[in-house]
Amino acid sequence: MPKPAYHILVCANQRPPGHPRGSCGENGATDVLQRMQAGIESKGLFEKAIMSTTSCLGPCSMGPMVIVYPDGVWYNKVKPEDVDEILDSHIGNGQKVDRLVMDDALWG
Ligand code: FES
Repeated sequence: MPKPAYHILVCANQRPPGHPRGSCGENGATDVLQRMQAGIESKGLFEKAIMSTTSCLGPCSMGPMVIVYPDGVWYNKVKPEDVDEILDSHIGNGQKVDRLVMDDALWG
């Protein structure tokens, strides 16, 4: 297997319902993960991108969070229906999806 050009990280952290920080899991990360895995497979992107799940990445209230390296692009509030656009535009054509990029100002 050749070294993939992209590494996609998807936060899969799940906190109990009502936790003050919330979590990507509570916001639908499982559906995003499933769609991402299926998309990588159906689009034949195995040799271009690898996906890993992570624990908390920090901005929990903005989740589900997806990060694409080596570009260091942090996508926030990703919905399952956004996944194809990330795969087609960013992974397929090297163009980040601006409308999903988290604003750096939200780091505080
Ligand atoms: S739970 Fe996903 S960023 Fe914290």
